Amino acid sequence: MGRLDNKVAFVTGLARGQGRAHAVRLAGEGAQIIGVDLAGPLPGVPYDSATPADLDETRRLVEEQGAKAHLAQCDVRDLDGLKAVVDEGVGLFGGLDVVIANAGICIPETWDEVSPTSFRDTIDTNVVGAWNTVTACAHHLVERGGGSVILISSYAGRKVQPFMVHYTTSKHALVGMTRAFAAELGNHNIRVNSIHPGAVATPMGSGQMVARIEETNASNPRLAGMGMTFLNQFVAEPEEVANVAAFLASDESKFITAESISVDGGAQHF
Ligand SMILES: NC(=O)c1ccc[n+]([C@@H]2O[C@H](COP(=O)([O-])OP(=O)(O)OC[C@H]3O[C@@H](n4cnc5c(N)ncnc54)[C@H](O)[C@@H]3O)[C@@H](O)[C@H]2O)c1
Repeated sequence: MGRLDNKVAFVTGLARGQGRAHAVRLAGEGAQIIGVDLAGPLPGVPYDSATPADLDETRRLVEEQGAKAHLAQCDVRDLDGLKAVVDEGVGLFGGLDVVIANAGICIPETWDEVSPTSFRDTIDTNVVGAWNTVTACAHHLVERGGGSVILISSYAGRKVQPFMVHYTTSKHALVGMTRAFAAELGNHNIRVNSIHPGAVATPMGSGQMVARIEETNASNPRLAGMGMTFLNQFVAEPEEVANVAAFLASDESKFITAESISVDGGAQHF
C-alpha cells in the first residue's frame, strides 16, 4: 500500500531534475500523474534546456512505477494551456489531490546585468507560473473536498541567492503566495506549503551555469560563501527533496499548512 493510493497529482516542470523526482516518487506511492513541461528553449538561462525526449523519459519512469501518466508540453506562463491539460487529466483520472508548482528558471547575473527582459522572464515563469498552476488546479481540489499544494521555492526564498536579484525576488514571492493561498483555501481542507531546497544536483547546473556563477562571484567574493551548509553534504539529490514533497502530499502532514520547509543542510542559517 502506498501513502498516495487513489490520489492524483499534478506536477509542473517534470521533464527532468526535481520535477521528475517528484513525479516518480509520488507515482511510487500510488498516485496517478498529470504533468507539464516546456521541454524546449528556456529564456536567457546559461544551462541546457529540457527536451521532448526528457519528457518521454519521465513518462516511462512514472509508468515503470505502475502509475498512469498524462503529460504534455506546455508553458506554465500559459494559463489556458495549463487549464486544458489539468482538465483533461482530471477527466481521465477522476479528480485531483496534489499540486506541485515546480517549474522555474534561474539566471546568474550581477545586479547591474539584470535586464528588463531577464527580470520579467524570471518573474513570469517563477511567480506568474506558480499562480497560474494553483489557479488552474484549485477548483478541482475544492471539488474533491481537500488537497495539498506545494510551491517549490528555494534557499533564495528564505535568505539570499547572491547575484540573482530577480530569482531571489521571485522565490520570496512564493512564501507570500503560500501563506495567502493557505489562508483562503484552508476553508476547503486544502493545505498549501513551500519547500526551500539549497543546491540540488539537477541539469540547472549544466552547460555554462557553473562558469557564470563563478564569474558573478568574482564581482564580490565576500558573498560567494553564503550558501555554505552546517552538514558535510553541500548538494542535495533531487530524491531528497522529493521525500519532503511526498510527506507534504500525504496525510502524514495533514495539520501542516502555510509552512516553509527548507531542505538545505542549514544553509539559510549559516
Ligand atoms: N537546482 C537547484 O539547485 C535548485 C535549488 C533551489 C530551488 N530550485 C528550484 O527547483 C525547481 C526545479 O528546478 P531543477 O533544479 O529541477 O531545474 P531543471 O532546470 O533541471 O528543471 C526545471 C524544469 O522546469 C521546466 N520549465 C522551466 N520553465 C518552464 C515553463 N515556463 N513552463 C513549463 N516548464 C518550464 C524546464 O523545462 C525543466 O524541465 C525550480 O523552481 C528551481 O528554481 C532549484
